[in-house]
Amino acid sequence: MDTVRLVIDGKEVTTAAGNTILMAARQAKIHIPTLCYHPRLPVSGACRVCVVEVEGRPALVASCAMPVAEGMVVHTKTERVLRARRLVVDLLLASGDHNCLLCQSNGSCELQDLAYELGIESFRFPVDSPGYPKDTSNAMIERDLNKCILCGRCVRACNEVQVNEVIDFGYRGGKAKIVTAWDLPYGESECVFCGECVSVCPTGALTERQAKFKARPWKLQKVRTTCAYCGVGCQLELNVAEGQVVKVTSDYRYGPPNFGSLCVKGRFGYDFIHHPERLKTPLVREKDSFREASWDEALELVAKKFSEIRSRYGADALAGLTSAKCTNEENYLFQKFFRAVLGTNNVDHCARL
Ligand code: FES
Repeated sequence: MDTVRLVIDGKEVTTAAGNTILMAARQAKIHIPTLCYHPRLPVSGACRVCVVEVEGRPALVASCAMPVAEGMVVHTKTERVLRARRLVVDLLLASGDHNCLLCQSNGSCELQDLAYELGIESFRFPVDSPGYPKDTSNAMIERDLNKCILCGRCVRACNEVQVNEVIDFGYRGGKAKIVTAWDLPYGESECVFCGECVSVCPTGALTERQAKFKARPWKLQKVRTTCAYCGVGCQLELNVAEGQVVKVTSDYRYGPPNFGSLCVKGRFGYDFIHHPERLKTPLVREKDSFREASWDEALELVAKKFSEIRSRYGADALAGLTSAKCTNEENYLFQKFFRAVLGTNNVDHCARL
C-alpha cells in the first residue's frame, strides 16, 4: 500500500495515499469538526465546516474532500480556520428555526455541539426561519424542514446507500429544501420508511415520531441486539429508558450484515414489545374461546395431541413449518424434533415459500 507523509498541527502523520486530510487527522486523533460528512456516505464537501489551512494554498480547503499529498503541512485550528467555521455555523443558525429547547434532538444534535465547540453564544445574524409546516403525514418519521441545514446527508443516504431515490434538493437559493417527487408529504411519497435518512440527519429535521416525548437522548441506554424480524441478522440498538424500549437505532460501526442500515420493520416495528394486547402466556382453546394456561399445561397438551395423531394416522400425518424469525439454532432444533422425535420429514421453512 502506498503511503503519504504529511504534517497536521505539527504532528507527523503517515497515511494511505488517496485518504483525505480528514481521514488522516482522525487516524492521528486530531479533531476536525464536520457536518455534511458521514463515514457511510459519499463525500459532498458542501458545508465547509471542516475547512483547514494548507501551507502554500491561498484558500481554505474542505478537509473531508481534499486528498493528502506528500509533504503537505496542514493547520486545523488557526484563527482564520475558526473564523470561517464560525461564519458557517452563524449562517446556518440564522437560516432556520434552531430552538433547541423545543427540539426532539436536543442533546444529540451535531449543529448544537458545533455551536458549543466554537463558543457561539448568540445569534450573529437576524434569524430568517422559512416557516415550513411540520410534515407529520406518516406515523414513523416527522420532518421539520425549519431545522434542516441542507447538508444533504439524507439525500445521499436515500439515493446512494438505500438506493430508494425518494428525496433530493428542490427549489433554489433561499427557497432550497429537501423534497420528495412533486414535493409531496412523506406519507404520500414513494418513501418506504427505512429511516436511513433519520439515522444520518445531524439535527432535529428528521426524527422518529414514536419516540417523541418518551425520553431525552441522555437518558437512553443503548442495548445492542440482533433484529428478530428475519434471518439476515441485522445489528440494532434498543434505546431503553426506565425499562421501556422507546426507539430503535443502529450503528455503521457494528459492520456486517447491515452496516447501520435497517428496514422499516427493524427500525419502527417495535411497538409490539410493550403492547397491552401482546400474548404473554399460552392460550388453550376451549370450544369457541381461549383460556390462559401455564407453559407446562400447554406443552403437555401439544405433546398429547401429537402422540394421538401419530398413533392414529402415522407420523406423516404431522407437518411442521418454521420461521425466519427464529435463530438458526432454533430452526435446527425444530427440524431435529420433527425428524428424530416425531419421525417425519414433513418439515419446511417460511423462507422457501
Ligand atoms: Fe467537509 Fe461538510 S464536512 S464540507
